[in-house]
Amino acid sequence: MKVAITGATGLVGRRLSERLAAEGHTVYGLSRSAPRQAGAFSNVFAWDAEEAPPPEQALAGMDAVVHLAGETISQRWTPDAKRRIRDSRVAGTRRLIEGLSTVSRRPAVLVSASAIGYYGSRGDETLTESAPPGQGFLAQVCQEWENQAMLAESLGMRVVRLRTGMALSAKGGALPRMLPPFKAGLGGRLGSGDQWVSWIHLEDLARLIGFLLDHTVSGPVNATAPNPVTNAAFTKVLAGVLRRPALFPVPRFALRVMFGEMAGILLDSQRVIPAAAGSAGFEFQYPEVEAALTTLLGG
Ligand SMILES: NC(=O)c1ccc[n+]([C@@H]2O[C@H](COP(=O)([O-])OP(=O)(O)OC[C@H]3O[C@@H](n4cnc5c(N)ncnc54)[C@H](OP(=O)(O)O)[C@@H]3O)[C@@H](O)[C@H]2O)c1
Repeated sequence: MKVAITGATGLVGRRLSERLAAEGHTVYGLSRSAPRQAGAFSNVFAWDAEEAPPPEQALAGMDAVVHLAGETISQRWTPDAKRRIRDSRVAGTRRLIEGLSTVSRRPAVLVSASAIGYYGSRGDETLTESAPPGQGFLAQVCQEWENQAMLAESLGMRVVRLRTGMALSAKGGALPRMLPPFKAGLGGRLGSGDQWVSWIHLEDLARLIGFLLDHTVSGPVNATAPNPVTNAAFTKVLAGVLRRPALFPVPRFALRVMFGEMAGILLDSQRVIPAAAGSAGFEFQYPEVEAALTTLLGG
């Protein structure tokens, strides 16, 4: 299969590219820094999602597109950062669809990133793909992002909207940023610790995307492990795997002072269940957080 991946240089894109290449697929990366990325992929095309549609040769003749590009949300949400977070996803996806609409030999499938931020903050409610969207900046961005991706359906493409949870990897994303206080024995729950954390091992995320390319699934797919945990439980497991105490809870107000509005991603509660992946027959290699963290952190 020939697969084009936008945001291929990111945490998810890199692992996915490696997996697909190892399985014998041909991977084409799309990147804003194409010349520096040459060598990492079978081929790499320059594309800035904030500028224009991708070049035709990056899409024509592909069997599938995996769209992961987007400005990181792990930064202080200044007005300018919020604009980039939104535009790189919403306008970026619109430009991708524009590009797809003009190519003659169009890919059959688009797997387009979204996030569990779609659901907003929902307490203890169990959230499958049929749950309605929530409130807040990320929920709004995710809805608009998904609406753009869905336009590819009118081009005859199968479209998967991947509502990803916190991807766990030792090499990037949220986990390495959590480690320093925990390793120093200064870790603790965030706020009340009652908020649900929906996570997925990066390896399962890459496996799931590969599975979705091969199976005739469409619509929203929650990319989260089947056993979400509360922040308090996550904290306990992480401290246990690192063999450190976790006695220092971080109060809500301190998180708000440190991170501003972005603290919401640490405090929002999303108890997400991967119902669509389960019905399609996908099996998680890491369904439990303790085994996931143990393999990642070598405990
Ligand atoms: N990792 C997670 O836990 C998680 C959770 C939920 C949802 N997601 C979503 O899944 C997607 C992939 O996640 P990831 O962790 O791999 O992200 P990532 O590591 O931040 O990589 C995203 C890629 O997008 C490109 N990019 C960054 N800023 C951009 C901008 N302003 N305009 C256009 N392109 C830009 C970059 O590629 P180039 O520099 O090469 O162009 C970057 O490598 C993202 O859309 C993310 O929101 C991830």
